[in-house]
Amino acid sequence: MKFILASQNQHKLVEMQNILSAHGVEVVLQSELGLHVEVEETGATFAENAMLKAKAVMAASGLPAIADDSGVCVDALSGAPGVYSARYGGPELDDVGRYRLLLENMRGARDRTAHFTSAIACAFPNGDTIEAEGICPGMIAYAPQGDGGFGYDPVFFLPQRKKTFAQLTAEEKNEISHRGKALALFREKLEEYLKK
Ligand code: IMP
Repeated sequence: MKFILASQNQHKLVEMQNILSAHGVEVVLQSELGLHVEVEETGATFAENAMLKAKAVMAASGLPAIADDSGVCVDALSGAPGVYSARYGGPELDDVGRYRLLLENMRGARDRTAHFTSAIACAFPNGDTIEAEGICPGMIAYAPQGDGGFGYDPVFFLPQRKKTFAQLTAEEKNEISHRGKALALFREKLEEYLKK
């Protein structure tokens, strides 16, 4: 069975493709089918937004679709930027601008605890759906470190590794990341579903 990956974010696509293919799940990109479905993320939760994206791509393609919605939630900022992670600070900011804004908003904050969440949603043409979520706890660093990964990776510090996400290899990140955990759970649920 082939699944379409609903994401437009190249970095997330690469991570999802790597993790899902390691789990034996075959995926194709929207672009490979000439599809470019843009979905407004109007949901209040990661799970709602992931399902909106999966259902829109499934409806446009007629094939099972998988989407991820993710972001970083910072305790000292009452969970911000959360579902607004990609849009934090407005459309004129890039990844570097967004993590700088986060550091600026965290200036003086002693509580640096945060977590990444990834919600995976899968929608089948028969109306069935599968959902899975993964969380990776960490801390917001005082300054960016490392040049791997994307988004907020340079400022997301993992105390147990003494490194930021941006200082890990792609494999190391996938082993412990929110997206890696969500996709591992998704695969378990998919296997159960396919058995039925
Ligand atoms: P969306 O799920 O496409 O709405 O965007 C999620 C946003 O959260 C991304 O644009 C990144 O800014 C951030 N994000 C999600 N996952 C990661 C990650 O693994 N590392 C760094 N930033 C991430």
